[in-house]
Amino acid sequence: MPDLKQRPSDLRARLTDLREQLNFHNYRYHVLDDPVISDVEYDRLLNELKQIEAEHPEWITPDSPTQRVGGQVSERFAKVPHPAPILSLANAFNGNDVRDWFARIAKLIPTGHKVQFTVEPKIDGLTVVLHYRDGVFVQGATRGNGLIGEDITPNLRTVKAVPLKIPVAAGKSGAAARRSSKSTSAVPSTLVVRGEAFIELQDFAVMNAQIEKEGGKLFANPRNAAAGFLRQLNSRVTATRPISLLCYQIVAAEGETPPSQIELLNYLNTIGFPTTEIAKRFDSLDEAITYAESWSAKRDTLSFEADGVVIKIDDLDLQRDLGVVGKDPRGAIALKFPAREATTQLLDVGVNIGRTGIMAPYAILEPVNVGGVTIERATLHNFDDIARKDIRSGDRVIVKRSGDVIPYVTGPVVSARTGREQIIAPPKKCPFCDTPTLRREGEVAIYCPNRDCPGRLDRAVQFFVSKGAMDIDGLGEKIASQLIEAKLIEDVADLYLITRDQLLGLEGFGEKKADKLLASIAASKSRPLDRLIAALGIPHVGSVAAEALAGHFGSIDKFMRANEDALTQIEGIGPTIAAGIVEWTQRPEHEELVARLKKAGLTTKAAQVETGRSGGKLAGQTFVITGTLSQSRDEIAALIKAAGGKVTGSVSQKTDYVVAGDAPGSKLAKAQQLGITVLNEAALHRLLAN
Ligand code: IVH
Repeated sequence: MPDLKQRPSDLRARLTDLREQLNFHNYRYHVLDDPVISDVEYDRLLNELKQIEAEHPEWITPDSPTQRVGGQVSERFAKVPHPAPILSLANAFNGNDVRDWFARIAKLIPTGHKVQFTVEPKIDGLTVVLHYRDGVFVQGATRGNGLIGEDITPNLRTVKAVPLKIPVAAGKSGAAARRSSKSTSAVPSTLVVRGEAFIELQDFAVMNAQIEKEGGKLFANPRNAAAGFLRQLNSRVTATRPISLLCYQIVAAEGETPPSQIELLNYLNTIGFPTTEIAKRFDSLDEAITYAESWSAKRDTLSFEADGVVIKIDDLDLQRDLGVVGKDPRGAIALKFPAREATTQLLDVGVNIGRTGIMAPYAILEPVNVGGVTIERATLHNFDDIARKDIRSGDRVIVKRSGDVIPYVTGPVVSARTGREQIIAPPKKCPFCDTPTLRREGEVAIYCPNRDCPGRLDRAVQFFVSKGAMDIDGLGEKIASQLIEAKLIEDVADLYLITRDQLLGLEGFGEKKADKLLASIAASKSRPLDRLIAALGIPHVGSVAAEALAGHFGSIDKFMRANEDALTQIEGIGPTIAAGIVEWTQRPEHEELVARLKKAGLTTKAAQVETGRSGGKLAGQTFVITGTLSQSRDEIAALIKAAGGKVTGSVSQKTDYVVAGDAPGSKLAKAQQLGITVLNEAALHRLLAN
């Protein structure tokens, strides 16, 4: 809390300090992806700043971190002429197209000029053009027609990844200097930066799930959602949306800027703009193409939707001198990934029942290849969505796949209708148990209210055995259904009572398969407590919350007895989750289920080593495991924990060691950047043995 009785000059100093701190933490979070304080601490700083500004509104400046909340409602967008044309890109669809492109421009390149290429992702988002004057964000625009854009400054101001202030001079103290020791050069007095605004796939999924729950209209894809949020008139709405940004071009500058694309990306990052981590420079076109093509298979490992990669002539003077054809610069080309959209016939509609009884319709499709994967099923979200999009059984439909998400039907091809298509009505009875379905007041979802519905059990079992939960290998969807149909299991605890003879009585089960499954089930008994808590399928309790709960309570019994007060003490558990947990734990059938799981011999206590055994060899040391190793990550984590070490998921300043296997990815890069000791498996074993 600010002491408002402080002298104005002290308060003013505090205000400056808070702004610098908030800008710094914003940068750690959005640019480095490596926060050093919790969200709660961040909010505390922000609230303190808000209080001071409330007392002294005359001190509020547009670049204050408090001004990201939005609130201005624009009548319509003003026009903004761009300082230089905002160009597009020509497309290539394979390596040969790229070679043809370079053969064409090679003729224009002075002989003897060594050409290098930078490859970076082509982000599927909305271009934004950000203007800075003397280091302060003053205006932001859309691409518009490439010459004139729309002024969306108030909306962009709410986007946390857009720096409101960038360092202007060398040797500045405070946040700017702390960002990087490399920020030595002065930033041009006028700087116009171009980037792509988008929504991360994970954020998009969470957002759409929430909208679905509230019965709202779902967004078709992250790009449309980001564009919609940035191009609407109330910036208060934009402020609540998870918009991300990656920058890749300096459109104009009064002052010196880097001579090459790879240095430019580095430079932008150093002065506070988020840039891609996967850009690379190559000396030959072939190497550049190999790298570019490798991203086609790896596109799903990106946290955002990319529709290709961009290959750019690295030398920016040369790139400029090569000129433009229409709207496309000659000095860069997009290598597009294969489309992930296809049309096919909707043969029928099936229904899945969620663990809570919600009915989720899915499309049964004429198999179709979508971007290299054969799709036979796709989600139809909910019955309201089907009606709104007027999807009918027998329609030709458009199927889309993006990122790691389940394929979905975007809509019908109305022009292909024959008249024989059937309207899809929500089922009046549950297809699994014949119980009449319900629709709760104000909700979109249709439920099967039968708690013992076999359809529901199917999902509960699938969830319980899944990788992030009890990880029972060999127990797929089909076998789960088989076990339920044969009445071998009536809840998940029954899994631990299945006998060899029972399995041998099932179709398709020989001795080998039965023994393997029994061994997997037995192995799952020793999963740590947090996995068990996650596996129970309590609403809103995913792996992160489960870990916090296991760590806090230490045993399933204590967890089952916890009241809302005790639960809300835990960081990350808010009142809604707490209420949901108590609702779940107090049901007698759940108490009985947990008792039976305990009786079956599952681990129901947090191992002491979980939090780092104080006397162990590795006590107080934090490890991150990445890449493919000869043992599973769980096994390696168990070894570390047994020696008193702690294992976390992401690399930060607090990490002591990174254990890296093959194909380690960005965690290794980050470790190297932060100067953290990297161990291979052998080195880890030496450390453990010493
Ligand atoms: S460079 C001279 N780089 O893709 C600069 N564009 O289909 C020309 N885009 O309009 C653009 N990621 O909105 C460039 N890394 C990237 C990009 C990128 C996404 C967008 C951009 C452009 C569109 C062309």
